[in-house]
Amino acid sequence: MPTDPTTTRPAIKILGIESSCDETAAAVVVNGRTILSSVVASQIDIHRKYGGVVPELASREHLRQIVPVVREAMAEAGLRFEELDAIGVTQGPGLVGSLLVGITYGKTLAHALGKPLLAVNHLEGHVRAAFLQAYQSGEEPKLPAVCLIVSGGHTVLYEVKLKGEQDAAINHDAGAPFVYRKLGGTRDDAAGEAYDKVSKLLGLGYPGGPILDRLAAAAGSARAPVKFGPTKTRGNALDFSFSGLKTAVLYHVREHPEYIAEIRKREDAVAAGHCTFEELLPLCSESSLGLIREFQNAVVRDLVERTILGAKQCNVETVLVSGGVAANSQLRKRFTEEAQSRGLKVYFPSRGLSTDNAAMIAAAAYAEFATGRLAHLDLNAKASMPLEAPKT
Ligand code: KG4
Ligand code: ZN
Repeated sequence: MPTDPTTTRPAIKILGIESSCDETAAAVVVNGRTILSSVVASQIDIHRKYGGVVPELASREHLRQIVPVVREAMAEAGLRFEELDAIGVTQGPGLVGSLLVGITYGKTLAHALGKPLLAVNHLEGHVRAAFLQAYQSGEEPKLPAVCLIVSGGHTVLYEVKLKGEQDAAINHDAGAPFVYRKLGGTRDDAAGEAYDKVSKLLGLGYPGGPILDRLAAAAGSARAPVKFGPTKTRGNALDFSFSGLKTAVLYHVREHPEYIAEIRKREDAVAAGHCTFEELLPLCSESSLGLIREFQNAVVRDLVERTILGAKQCNVETVLVSGGVAANSQLRKRFTEEAQSRGLKVYFPSRGLSTDNAAMIAAAAYAEFATGRLAHLDLNAKASMPLEAPKT
């Protein structure tokens, strides 16, 4: 049996399958560390005209994509199915109809090949993505840590520890199981959802994050037509809330009819398929750019401040940031600056590993494999699925 060069253990090759939302993805990862392949088929073009993910269309598209995507991942890895050691699938949380496509395919493959099936929590996948990225650059994030998962469906802050190791800040194996304590989460919209909704109301299309990120950067010192103060959340200071901010943007736009004409122009451009940054920037007034920059400042400030407070409360030195919004350039910049000034170490996945992908699922599946937690053929999809909490 071949061995993993970074350890002396045998090389366990896991095929990961992800289909929880609007990306069909497959990847092969060795020992939760080395990415042999990672293929993602995005459905953005299909959902764009509806301004968000349409669940029925998503499941249908997963059905169309799953076979070619898995084949491509195997070909890129240079492996035959028989050479795999296990199949890992996302069990939840997510859209049940979408999850079922990946689960059914994974079960069938595992059964036909006589290989173990492993069930993965999508959120654990996002946590493992930060580790996976660190391993690619030869780094070993220390635990305990706090992890902010910030995407279109989730904005949640966890304390992450090694299972059975209460507070040892030690190096660990990529297959070591984690336990999670939820420190806070959004009370309404996820941060990515707020990006998507604000983008829609400004006529900038779906998904909102990437385009607003670039337009905010292009705003430079454009005059701020409005300022958004810090969001107050009563009770838990580590909870998030973004719907008030989204509504504040909406009210600002409604109170200023001068935005109407440019919003219509952008909506027409997006509907005609002209939705790149280069095509939309000339259709944005200075006020729109200033508004977008202020919106992003408010989201980023909130995410960074509460996460750093969580790290302080838990007395940890490591901060992990993952999920689609972790691709945001200003969020990465602010986290890096804050972490540096406070002696914290912050880890982000690359942009490709931040948004939904299957390499993170294969990496999380390795921890299931290493701890002998195999799934059965009666595995079912779960729309909501908490991460494993420590035993008290
Ligand atoms: O993790 P992900 O691919 O799917 C979910 O699990 O939700 O995240 C998608 C979300 C979308 O809301 C998208 O607008 C947001 O991540 N996003 C961004 C950026 N890139 C993607 N938000 C802010 N800045 C970005 N650069
Ligand atoms: Zn996700």
